[in-house]
Amino acid sequence: MEPVNTHREPPLTKGHNMSAIKSATVLGLGPMGRATVRLLLAAGVDVTVWNRTPGKTDALAELGAKPAATVAEAVAASDTILLSLIHYEAMYGVLEQAGDLTGKTVLNLSSDSPANTAKGASWVLDRGARFLTGAYMTQSDDIAHPASTLYTSGPADLYTELKPLLDHLCKSVHLGADYGLAQLYYQAGLAMFHAYLISLQQAFAMIERSGGDIDTFLELSKDDAGSQRDFSLYFAQAAKQGGWGDLASLKMMHAGAQHVIDASEDAGVDAALTRTIQDYYQRALDASEQTGTVVPVYRLFRGDH
Ligand SMILES: NC(=O)c1ccc[n+]([C@@H]2O[C@H](COP(=O)([O-])OP(=O)(O)OC[C@H]3O[C@@H](n4cnc5c(N)ncnc54)[C@H](OP(=O)(O)O)[C@@H]3O)[C@@H](O)[C@H]2O)c1
Repeated sequence: MEPVNTHREPPLTKGHNMSAIKSATVLGLGPMGRATVRLLLAAGVDVTVWNRTPGKTDALAELGAKPAATVAEAVAASDTILLSLIHYEAMYGVLEQAGDLTGKTVLNLSSDSPANTAKGASWVLDRGARFLTGAYMTQSDDIAHPASTLYTSGPADLYTELKPLLDHLCKSVHLGADYGLAQLYYQAGLAMFHAYLISLQQAFAMIERSGGDIDTFLELSKDDAGSQRDFSLYFAQAAKQGGWGDLASLKMMHAGAQHVIDASEDAGVDAALTRTIQDYYQRALDASEQTGTVVPVYRLFRGDH
C-alpha cells in the first residue's frame, strides 16, 4: 500500500524550541509505557503519568514520576505528551478528556496500521497539537536493548526537536514525513516476527514430542541470524525482479513443506502453519500452470499475477 500523506503542521507556538525537553507526560502504562517512563526518569526528565486503570502509577511514583488524577491534569503538566496505548482508537477517548491541545506535541508510541495512524495524526493536528508517530522495534519492553530502534515519521524538524528526549529511550530513525511510514516498516517487521514466533514454537514442540533436546536445537541454530540476513538480501534482489523461484524450486519447497508436516504430525504436533506455507507453493504452481509462465510466491502476495 502507499502510505497516506496527511502531513500538515500547525504554526509553531510559544514553548516550541530546540532546548532540551525537561518534562514529559506519558499516557498509558502497559509494559511499554512503564519502560518508557523508567528510562525518562533515569535521564532526569520530570515525568507525569496517567493510566486508565488506576494503580499502575504507584510503582512509578516511587521512582519519582508524578501521577495525575485525570487526563486533563496530565496533559496540562507538560508540553510533550507521549501515548503508549493498545491501539490508535484508544487515543481518541483519552485525548478527548484533555480538550484543546494547542501548543502540545503528541508522540504516539502505540502500534496500528499506517491508515489508522494517518487518521489519528490528522485528528490531533485538528486540535492544535503537533504530531510525531513512534513505533518501538524493540525486544519486548527492553527498550534499552542495543538492538532496539524507535521508528518515527512525521515532520522532520519535530523529530529533530524531540531527538534529545528519544535518545534517553533507544536509538531512533526518522523515516519520512508521512505519518504512516513508521507503522508501515514496523508492521512489515512484525509480519515476519509473528510468523517466526509461531514457527519457533512448532519447532520446539517437534523436538520435545520426538524426544529431542531444545538446547541442542538452540546450539544448532545459533548462526541463523546471519543466514537470515543473507536470505533477506537475496530475496530482496529477487523481489525487485518479480520474486524468487523457478518451477523446480517451487516444487522443491512444496515437497519440503510436506516433510515438515509429516515430521510434525508424526510427533502429534500441529502443522497448520506449515500447511498454510505449503499452500502458497501450491497456489504458485497452479498459477504457473494456468498462465504458462512461472508465478513466484511473491506475486501471490502482491496480487499482480
Ligand atoms: N509489549 C511489547 O513488546 C511491544 C513492543 C513494541 C510495541 N508495542 C506496542 O506498544 C503499545 C503499548 O504496548 P504495551 O505492551 O505496553 O501494552 P498494551 O497491552 O498493548 O496496552 C496497554 C495500555 O493501553 C491502555 N488501554 C487499552 N485500551 C484503552 C482504552 N480504550 N482507553 C485507554 N487506555 C487503554 C491500557 O490501559 P489499562 O491499564 O487501563 O488497561 C494500558 O495502559 C501497543 O500498541 C503495542 O502493540 C508493544
